Amino acid sequence: MDESKLNDFMGKLVTDMGGAALMANVLVGAELGLYRAMADGTPTTSEALAAKAGCNPRLIREWLNNQAAAGYVEVDDGKFRLPEEQAMALADEDSPVYVAGGASVLASLFLDKDKVIAAMRGNGALSWGEHHHCLFSGTERFFRPGYRAHLVAEWLPALDGVVPKLEAGGKVADVGCGHGASTVIMAEAFPASRFFGFDFHAPSIATARTRAAERGVGDRANFEVASAKDYGNGGYDLICFFDCLHDMGDPVGAARHALQSLAPDGTVLLVEPFAHDRLEENMNPVGRLFYAASTFICTPNSLSQEVGLGLGAQAGEARLRAVFAEAGFSRFRRATETPFNLILEARR
Ligand SMILES: C[S@@+](CC[C@H](N)C(=O)[O-])C[C@H]1O[C@@H](n2cnc3c(N)ncnc32)[C@H](O)[C@@H]1O
Repeated sequence: MDESKLNDFMGKLVTDMGGAALMANVLVGAELGLYRAMADGTPTTSEALAAKAGCNPRLIREWLNNQAAAGYVEVDDGKFRLPEEQAMALADEDSPVYVAGGASVLASLFLDKDKVIAAMRGNGALSWGEHHHCLFSGTERFFRPGYRAHLVAEWLPALDGVVPKLEAGGKVADVGCGHGASTVIMAEAFPASRFFGFDFHAPSIATARTRAAERGVGDRANFEVASAKDYGNGGYDLICFFDCLHDMGDPVGAARHALQSLAPDGTVLLVEPFAHDRLEENMNPVGRLFYAASTFICTPNSLSQEVGLGLGAQAGEARLRAVFAEAGFSRFRRATETPFNLILEARR
């Protein structure tokens, strides 16, 4: 036993346990509006923040102490301040780097722990809809800022010839659309086009319809409960999979159905979590986060469906390319990427 290695590891454990506990505090700060109440960057006392947010002053002081120890807020002479950069990530849902929604996804890991244990002792299956509802809203709030920042400005333009079709009036399917964040963003940007969101989780489709109505795009964004292998219509100029193909039991079947549903010159947009092809290359903070979520959410969902391929959230481009080749696509390329996403284009 190497004592210095043990000490290093204990230090890492304390850091990780502190991070996990901090995320619970982030969730509380977001839900109580504490970050929003501090978003103007003015130094505040715990009493003033408690009064502003309508909360218990003693608990707010303890929460602020935690946030200060974590480096999320600054403390000086008994006053606490949320720096502008932290406010972008934690207080402003419209900011491209807003991440507080992710804390709800993390909460679902703890809340669903017993179901995951049962799945691990059994056949590995745990369907998306079996999870605590904070996963569904958390996924929406975690992913939407990235879609707002990149989808219309970068990802669609990186696809060959897609934007002119959408400007002129195209037909788009958003498969596994969840709460429809991506569908609504595209519908807002391309009023001449028609958008069809599909998901096998009925409560998500109900929320997606509400979101489309709230944003005034209900006339051109239609949502239906359907699996990735049985949605209808066909003749789509663009079929999108946003962070969902790897969740599916039969990704090859889903890609094959997309091939059959595309217009002759149509395009598949596949957005997947960023990953390299080899496990050894994913030993980094992004890989650590995505493998954790994949263990609890993505892979058990895949194992709950027919075929149960279990791609996992870190499949990587080569594995995804093989899925599309097996389904009959002949063209497949990386259109662009972000630190969190691979943006892939598949064509006949
Ligand atoms: C991680 S969520 C992503 C949701 C949405 N695309 C987004 O980016 O916010 C994965 C989604 O895939 C859906 N899903 C999983 N398997 C499916 C299948 N076989 N057919 C249709 N939807 C499926 C789930 O219900 C869930 O809404």
